[in-house]
Amino acid sequence: FIATKSGYDHYMFKEILEQPEALTRTWEGLASTSLNQVEEMDFAKLDRLQIIACGTSYYAGLVAKYWFERMANLIVEVDLASEFRYREPPMPSNGGCLFISQSGETADTLAALRFAKSKHQYCLSVVNAPQSSIARESDFVYRTLCGPEIGVASTKAFTSQLAVLFDLVKQAAKQRNAGQHIIQELGDTPEMDVINAVQQALNKANKIESIVRFFDDATSAIFLGRGQCYPIALEGALKLKEISYIHAEGYAAGELKHGPIALIDENMPVVVIAPYDRLFEKTVSNLQEVRARGAKVILISDKLGCEICKEYADCFIEMPTLHETLAPFVYSIAVQLLSYFTAVQRGTDVDQPRNLAKSVTVE
Ligand code: G6P
Repeated sequence: FIATKSGYDHYMFKEILEQPEALTRTWEGLASTSLNQVEEMDFAKLDRLQIIACGTSYYAGLVAKYWFERMANLIVEVDLASEFRYREPPMPSNGGCLFISQSGETADTLAALRFAKSKHQYCLSVVNAPQSSIARESDFVYRTLCGPEIGVASTKAFTSQLAVLFDLVKQAAKQRNAGQHIIQELGDTPEMDVINAVQQALNKANKIESIVRFFDDATSAIFLGRGQCYPIALEGALKLKEISYIHAEGYAAGELKHGPIALIDENMPVVVIAPYDRLFEKTVSNLQEVRARGAKVILISDKLGCEICKEYADCFIEMPTLHETLAPFVYSIAVQLLSYFTAVQRGTDVDQPRNLAKSVTVE
């Protein structure tokens, strides 16, 4: 892989656009690995899975928690590596630890892996760098094949991590004889559905660019989501603050009443991530609460969701419709583009935001 900007202004934008290929390569790579793999991780023997990561990789882990619990009937805890390593929690026998790291070198994640190994846990990792320390020291290594990611704010590495995690969840569901109704609902080609939907989401770039005016005078923004889209709200807020320097908070929509609603006024844009799913109505009632207090509401939903809410939001980003399990893939694209165009509008150094590093190898 040779990393160039290929005529784009920023690596980040190029990497956002590369996601359909990154997902394709990652899933194809996993398919060929499992053919050759001598031993496969047996999720049936796990009583519990502990996921550990930092930054954007941690949010990929949070999405995976929803997937593993619902589809594979597996208890999952997700922890920040910097907390996990010093908390030194009790580790059950038959416990598995899954480390997610694009670089495979993040100091806290590596230290957490070493702690888990010392407690005789099965250690799995999802990495983009196959020669990295985390890959070398894990029992099972799963690779994202997204190519080098140069932009400091992670984009294609995140969705490629989701791709690997989705594959592991399907494997776990099969081995644990769980979640078969969801697997059936997903049909024969969920991966193709995701890749097509991600491409359609990318085609909305111009529309999303036109929405950044909502952030013109903003000093703060709130992202709300529920269920599997809660981690995407957290990721959206992280992306926005990292590259545009606008203070942003991601919240579980149900937590609105427990604090952030006090911040709402007409100067506060609120991004609501709400595909039309089991939780849609709950999230819409939160949307109405913030709108009634004067917030500018940007709704990211699908066709039906946008139609139902046409009176309740100030602007809409319409994403393609697909099974609710797969929503995190496409809603990530929307928040990436929203943050990117906002940062460009503000004239920040998008690929090298101040004070941030691509790989954090020291504490
Ligand atoms: C840094 C990067 C983030 C990344 C995080 C974890 O903060 O700026 O983009 O998500 O480290 O990195 P890792 O390589 O472990 O995924």
